[in-house]
Formats: sequence, C-alpha cells, structure tokens
Amino acid sequence: MTQDELKALVGQAALKYVVPGEIVGVGTGSTVNKFIDALVTIKDQIKGAVSSSEASTVRLKALGIPVFDSNEVESLSVYIDGADEIDHQGHMVKGGGAALTREKIVAAQSKQFVCIADESKLVDALGAFPLPVEVIPMATARVMRQFAAMGGTAAVRLKDGQPLVTDNGQHIVDVKGLKITDPVAFETAVSQWPGVVTVGVFALQKAQVCLLGTAQGVKTLNF
Ligand code: 5RP
Repeated sequence: MTQDELKALVGQAALKYVVPGEIVGVGTGSTVNKFIDALVTIKDQIKGAVSSSEASTVRLKALGIPVFDSNEVESLSVYIDGADEIDHQGHMVKGGGAALTREKIVAAQSKQFVCIADESKLVDALGAFPLPVEVIPMATARVMRQFAAMGGTAAVRLKDGQPLVTDNGQHIVDVKGLKITDPVAFETAVSQWPGVVTVGVFALQKAQVCLLGTAQGVKTLNF
C-alpha cells in the first residue's frame, strides 16, 4: 500500500471514535484531510467540528460540515489529528503543517486525543523530525541561540523566500539535531522561554490512542 492509501485507511478508521450528536475536534494535515473526507459520510450524525487551522476549516466548510469557534465549546469528547512523529508512549512531535498552536489548544479542550498516522511516523525516541516551534518574530534570534546552546540547529521556516506566517501571525523555527529523551520535561522547559508561542512536542497533551496504518492493516496502540 502507498503512504497515501495508509493515510486513507486510518482516516476512515478514526470514524468509530466520533461521538454521534457531538462536535468533533479536527486537526490539520494530509492524514487529517483523509479523515475529513471520511467524516462527510457521517456529517448528518454530528453537530460539527472545532478546527485547528484555517486550511482544515476551509475543507470542512466546503464539504458542508459546520465549524464552531473553540470558545463556543467547553469540551470535546475527541480530537483527531496526525503527527510528524509518535513514540511508544503517545508523545508526539507536531507542527509540520505549521498548525501546532491551534492543535495544542484543541487537544487541551478534548478528553481524548486520537492520533492517525502511517507507520513511518512511529519512532523509538522523538527528535529525528526537525522540531517545529512557533515564535514571536522579535524573539526568533534569541530562541535560535537557546536551541544552539542545547546542541540543536534552528532555521526559520520559509514560504516563497519569506518567513512563513502562521494562522496566528507568528513565525516557525525548525530545529534539527535535538535528542528529546524526556518529552514532558522538554515541553515544560521550552514552553517557558520568552517569545515561544508553542513548542511542537505534545507530551503534556499526548495521544491516548494511535491508529497506525501498516501494510497489515490498522493497528490500534493505546497509551
Ligand atoms: C500539522 C501537523 C500534522 O499533524 C503533521 O504535520 C502530520 O501531517 P501529515 O498528516 O500531512 O503527515 O502537526 O501542523
């Protein structure tokens, strides 16, 4: 099976975690796009979605799924999202699609995080994928120096030759060469650096379930 087919498989499998009559939390990315495509088939059974990005909002609305502002919803039963890496404890690196801040917000308001991913995303330790960090532009150079002091190499993410601007009007730095041995401690520490909006380690908001697309079918990992 191709990676695209594996993504479609887990996108479809995630439907069974959607609670009828409720609002579902929807993440961002190519795997989530497959989930959104599958969600259309049961759209009459749900109230709608809270979305983690402008891109997912556009896709949901285009398919006739109502999108609610996260402030209108106190809590969600489930949040479905992809990951750039997930370890065997459910800790993740996210933000490859630059939506990490809103993803962490929607994850925080959800009782259960269901990660959907193809098997290439499962890792023994986080850190091979360049770690996305959303920063306030004024703090970029300082944050990059702090990562350099930890042994990492940070670069500002570009789009069309200019710093990419997130849905929140901020920039992203991607950090290579980090060894994230204690994801909770790492997330806790970096989140407190001045100018860091969101670090792409999701350990405090980790997954409870991962639906992993493999050549043998969908494997369910519970954490
Ligand atoms: C977006 C994310 C995505 O979940 C992550 O990048 C995985 O994307 P894809 O499903 O396209 O591989 O964190 O900010």
